[in-house]
Amino acid sequence: MTSTAPLTTGDLTAGAPVHSLAGSGEWWRDAVIYQVYPRSFADGNGDGIGDLPGVTAKLDHLKQLGVDAVWLSPFYRSPQKDAGYDVADYRDIDPLFGTLADFDEMLAGAHERGLKIIVDLVPNHSSDQHVWFQEALTAAPGSAARERYMFRDGRGPAGSDVPNNWQSIFGGPAWTRLAPSEDDGPLGPQWYLHLFDSTQPDLNWENPEVREEFEAVLRFWLDRGVDGFRVDVAHGMIKAPGLPDWEGQVAMVEGTVEESTDKATDPGAPEDGSTGAGHHGPMFDQDGVHEIYRAWHRVLAEYDGDRCLVAEAWVEPLSRLARYVRPDEMNQAFNFSFLTAPWDAARLRTVVGASLSTMDAVGAPTTWVLSNHDVVRHVSRLGLADIGSGPLNGIGANDPQPDLELGTRRARAATLLMLGLPGSAYMYQGEELGLPDHTTLPDDVREDPSFFRTGGAEPGRDGCRVPLPWVGGAPGNGFGATGKTWLPQPDVYAELAADKQYGVEGSTYEMYRTALELRRAEKIGAGVLSWVDALTDSPDVVAFRVAGVVVLANLGAAPLPLPAGTDVLVASGDLATSADAVAVPADTTVWLRA
Ligand code: GLC
Repeated sequence: MTSTAPLTTGDLTAGAPVHSLAGSGEWWRDAVIYQVYPRSFADGNGDGIGDLPGVTAKLDHLKQLGVDAVWLSPFYRSPQKDAGYDVADYRDIDPLFGTLADFDEMLAGAHERGLKIIVDLVPNHSSDQHVWFQEALTAAPGSAARERYMFRDGRGPAGSDVPNNWQSIFGGPAWTRLAPSEDDGPLGPQWYLHLFDSTQPDLNWENPEVREEFEAVLRFWLDRGVDGFRVDVAHGMIKAPGLPDWEGQVAMVEGTVEESTDKATDPGAPEDGSTGAGHHGPMFDQDGVHEIYRAWHRVLAEYDGDRCLVAEAWVEPLSRLARYVRPDEMNQAFNFSFLTAPWDAARLRTVVGASLSTMDAVGAPTTWVLSNHDVVRHVSRLGLADIGSGPLNGIGANDPQPDLELGTRRARAATLLMLGLPGSAYMYQGEELGLPDHTTLPDDVREDPSFFRTGGAEPGRDGCRVPLPWVGGAPGNGFGATGKTWLPQPDVYAELAADKQYGVEGSTYEMYRTALELRRAEKIGAGVLSWVDALTDSPDVVAFRVAGVVVLANLGAAPLPLPAGTDVLVASGDLATSADAVAVPADTTVWLRA
């Protein structure tokens, strides 16, 4: 492999800042936030499912790692038809995960360690076991109880056709018809809308009672002391008037790399940083949602301590996403355009630059994220031959399998690139161990409703939700005391367990810890990004300067020699060292002292 021409120190000069230093120092502007998926983090009672006492027991792991905050996926009372994103009681903990006392203990333990806690709020839909839906089932059409959800008469003379043609994101029709009842009118039983599973009826956000209830739920958790909320499907609550037919089909995670550069017909073309992460259709990103967030902003403002709201909104172009984080709305929005960007230097530069400048325009920080509980972990995603067009929300045993070695190398490089960016970064549990997905799960252990509703056409998201390995080689790799795990772990988890990586030089865990320590010391999160001038057109290298650090990611095949005497602060892989130069190999990122 031939090297490109060596860089000189002068080549690392940075140009004009891409954005300003927005904001007034709230903690969430530059925080590193770690996502705990409670059922798979750590099991305190040995039933094979993670729980809140398990989280409390592992708070020192998070503190040592160096994150600022933890976001917990739902732990509320729920029949678990969508792993807790189907909430039956917004004010209680499911017995699977513990009790409200366990929650308080976890929260206090986190706060003692200086860690903030963000909880998940699921307002688009409830569980069908929620007392409101149960009431609606026995109430008459048009009643106040039905008005809390999206009930409609069917089409056709006997009302037997779906009210419109919308498809559920998990597959199949977005409508389910009730069983017949004596209250039915001439059109027979009504139908209810569910953008997700049929056990997740959509709430009617045009109804003031629904708005009041959720403001009360916010207060319930704010009074308990939480530092913020991650808002599930934040772009879905308001639907277009009249619920018009729409021919499209929305997937949980949209595919990427649809190359469109036609700005005239496609406002989401790559110049905007769009990478295909946006959900379209009359059920998404309606202007009416913003009024809800303005009201929530006012609720949070009554509390001390910079409580925050984080939008899970699959919206593109970025200028539409920025509307969710205007000064009187939410505070952050997940940057899925970054997550779905292909491993390509030019595309990454575009999405990073567009993200920073677009969020800056509304005074909000940019967020960065590579993995979560809905997408294939970045180790597995980036190990696919055809990155970007491969499946984003699940790899099945019959799909092309990722190359773990390649994926790990690229994932570590992607992580160092991400942690070098200003703003707030989100990590998904286990990425600090370099965990891949379980990509060959047998069908009979799968639980994700998207697998069942698509008749197996989509493998679903179970592969990224496998219980974490804490003690390599112990039963269940130390997930809990009994060795039970609700999903089987792949063999490689034994080597990647936390205890095999603590203090081990070169381990993924130590790379994360070092990077997080440097990020804090160098104030990278609160810094301003400038591109390294000499490399702004490079097809292979992404290079920028933030605070006192230059980040260089080499995505090309040829090693990139560094200027003589460069001070390397951290590297995602071994550097190639010869007598006269140190070079950054393919798929490797370094942080240099600027
Ligand atoms: C969000 C969650 C996902 C869930 C869906 C329905 O996208 O992240 O896990 O299935 O909403 O609540």
